[in-house]
Amino acid sequence: MLQVKNLEKSFGGLKVLTGVTFDVARGEKLALIGPNGAGKSTLINVIGGQLTASGGVVDFDGGRPIVSLPPNERLHLGLARSYQQNNLFWHLPVLDNVLLALYGAETSHLRFLKPLGQRTELLEEAEKLLTSADLWEKRHESPTTLSYGEQRLLELLLAFTSNPRMVLLDEPSAGLPTAEAFAFSDKLRKLVGSATLLFCAHDLDLVFNLADNIIVLCFGVIIARGTPDEIKANPQVQEIYLGSEDDDK
Ligand SMILES: Nc1ncnc2c1ncn2[C@@H]1O[C@H](COP(=O)(O)OP(=O)(O)OP(=O)(O)O)[C@@H](O)[C@H]1O
Ligand SMILES: [Mg+2]
Repeated sequence: MLQVKNLEKSFGGLKVLTGVTFDVARGEKLALIGPNGAGKSTLINVIGGQLTASGGVVDFDGGRPIVSLPPNERLHLGLARSYQQNNLFWHLPVLDNVLLALYGAETSHLRFLKPLGQRTELLEEAEKLLTSADLWEKRHESPTTLSYGEQRLLELLLAFTSNPRMVLLDEPSAGLPTAEAFAFSDKLRKLVGSATLLFCAHDLDLVFNLADNIIVLCFGVIIARGTPDEIKANPQVQEIYLGSEDDDK
């Protein structure tokens, strides 16, 4: 689904990504871990198109080069991402937030011909998405009444309204209270479903619950790639990252 080859990113004289090379298979859930400042967000932003690469190749969905496309064109090809900041309309019910996003994700110009309230197919899609995140029962509530974890899930759900082939998530559980972490990670797993996923996170419980494979980034270089068990057992990873996980929270 995604091929990244020799990706480079510098900010002025600061080299943040060096020779980053990896593949993501169709349907794979790949986590990106590493210490603060390792370059995880930069990598997600270069793949999503929010930052311009300084060098290298990114091919999407069967080899299409996307590294110089703007984010909206990447989105049209099926590569979606969620942002860390709040994207919700707080004065509108949960359901309307989703309907508006579904409406906005449509590309047909004929969409204006029919009022939003009569678009039963949008409602069906909204029901499917909200049910997958266990939020359908709360569809008439304001997002302000939801728990923090539910608000985050609703925001993340908006990234799925364009029916993407692949989704990029930067710290999906950022700021989540520990008490909500377990339920959140299971619901996120359901929401992601069969989509291909590349995400970065400091919360290793979330990483181990969600990821098929893990890449470890350190000072902009991939130092390990493997299954969760392989990564847990890797001495270099233990020394560089896992041993200091508490410092990174
Ligand atoms: N726009 C920018 N201009 C200059 N330097 C930047 C910019 N964005 C990031 N950096 C630097 O690039 C490096 C990597 O940052 P990045 O945010 O990608 O790390 P990260 O792995 O996501 O860290 P964290 O775990 O704290 O989120 C850091 O040294 C950071 O200061
Ligand atoms: Mg980051």
